[in-house]
Amino acid sequence: MAGHHPTYEPKTGFERWLDLRLPIARFAYETAVAFPTPKNLNYWWTFGGILATMLVVQLATGIVLAMHYVPHVDHAFNSVERIMRDVNYGWLIRYMHANGASMFFVAVYIHIFRNLYYGSYKAPREILWIIGCLIYLAMMATAFLGYVLPWGQMSFHGAVVITNLLGALPVVGEAITTWLWGGFAVDNPTLNRFFSLHYLLPFVIAGLVALHIWALHVPGNNNPTGVNVKSAADTVPFHPYYTVKDGFAIVLFFIMFAGFVFYGPNLLGHPDNYIPANPLVTPAHIVPEWYFLPFYAILRAVPDKLGGVLLMFGAIGVLFILPWLDTSKVRSMRYRPTARWYFLLFFIACLVLGWCGAKLPDDPVIPNLTTFILGDSDLNSYVWLSRVATAYYFAYFLIVLPVLGLTETPLPVPESISAPVLSHPAAAPAGAAAAPEMRG
Ligand code: HEM
Repeated sequence: MAGHHPTYEPKTGFERWLDLRLPIARFAYETAVAFPTPKNLNYWWTFGGILATMLVVQLATGIVLAMHYVPHVDHAFNSVERIMRDVNYGWLIRYMHANGASMFFVAVYIHIFRNLYYGSYKAPREILWIIGCLIYLAMMATAFLGYVLPWGQMSFHGAVVITNLLGALPVVGEAITTWLWGGFAVDNPTLNRFFSLHYLLPFVIAGLVALHIWALHVPGNNNPTGVNVKSAADTVPFHPYYTVKDGFAIVLFFIMFAGFVFYGPNLLGHPDNYIPANPLVTPAHIVPEWYFLPFYAILRAVPDKLGGVLLMFGAIGVLFILPWLDTSKVRSMRYRPTARWYFLLFFIACLVLGWCGAKLPDDPVIPNLTTFILGDSDLNSYVWLSRVATAYYFAYFLIVLPVLGLTETPLPVPESISAPVLSHPAAAPAGAAAAPEMRG
């Protein structure tokens, strides 16, 4: 154990002096070097590190962009064009920032689905999960505010659509929208405050991430078996085992990120945003960025505006109470074969919602065949498909997880994290020699 999980020992006189006054080196050592981490974490566990790296990328590129950006309705669009054409490497910084936002969401969605599959939100990690949900909310707000800044057609009309939604709230709706706009329409004061908040929120996210990591380090990581760490034999020190593994995953992720930045920098964007904002010309089809599409579909699945807004916020709100909705005693879906099917359906429902969000609501889903059978009825429209997927989205959290936990028969759960590894036939020949060392 001593060799495996070393403890901090100040080596130089300065380190001893500092350790008595501000034990910051001890803290860093204990959290990022010696921290006992389950030895069976797979690559799905590298996305937390990827997210932390992406946050740094967004902060660094955003600060440089803000040096050249002008938050005024008459100059914003041109200032962004100037960054692209005249500022040294401005194109690179901007494309990294715009595509970085998408990559951030790719990573966060994988991170969230990983947590859902392995039950990482369950006790004792409820606070860790809730802080994660707050980060997700703050990320969505930041991304929405940022998209308005280039002041293109999609920026402007997207901002009009989304801010108008708040007007649906009874009694306070109109007051809130006027306050948010800083006037009676989306205009210069709106752009100004959106810029200010877009600059502020990433630092709030950074603070929340610090809390998130703190809350992670109290119970420690969950792992693919979902079984608690029982002894030192179940863990390895974070460094070098996971610094190297996370580092490798971060490099792979950056290769994909670079692919977008250098070969398809506008693939994930909308061409209309290269047209300066014009309040008098509304684009034929206003679509949000891809990462908002499932929520946009939920919003449009409900005919009533207020109902749609409430359901859209409810789709995120339900995540906050998830730890108390899932009644299963078993954490990981590795040992919940029935739950796995419902989880797969949930994943598909989210993809379907994303797909519907990108379409016009009354477009036919299958133009020829179903139109032939159903005629022009709206049963063959994206609205209907969105309704079915929305119903399943909520049913998964409010019915499936509470009921299934009580009724299903899970597979036998291993005794410890090491047990399934050491009892695996592949471990047998080398096992005799490897076991003592692995046990530390
Ligand atoms: C900026 C965004 C985020 C960062 C930098 C971040 C960072 C991390 C890190 C470094 C870990 C440990 C390594 C890992 O499990 O991958 C972690 C774990 C975790 N995160 Fe996040 N996270 C973020 C967003 C979120 C969100 C949005 C949620 C949920 C809605 C969430 C929920 C969790 C949970 C439950 C764990 C524990 C996982 C386990 O031990 O199995 N995180 N996070």
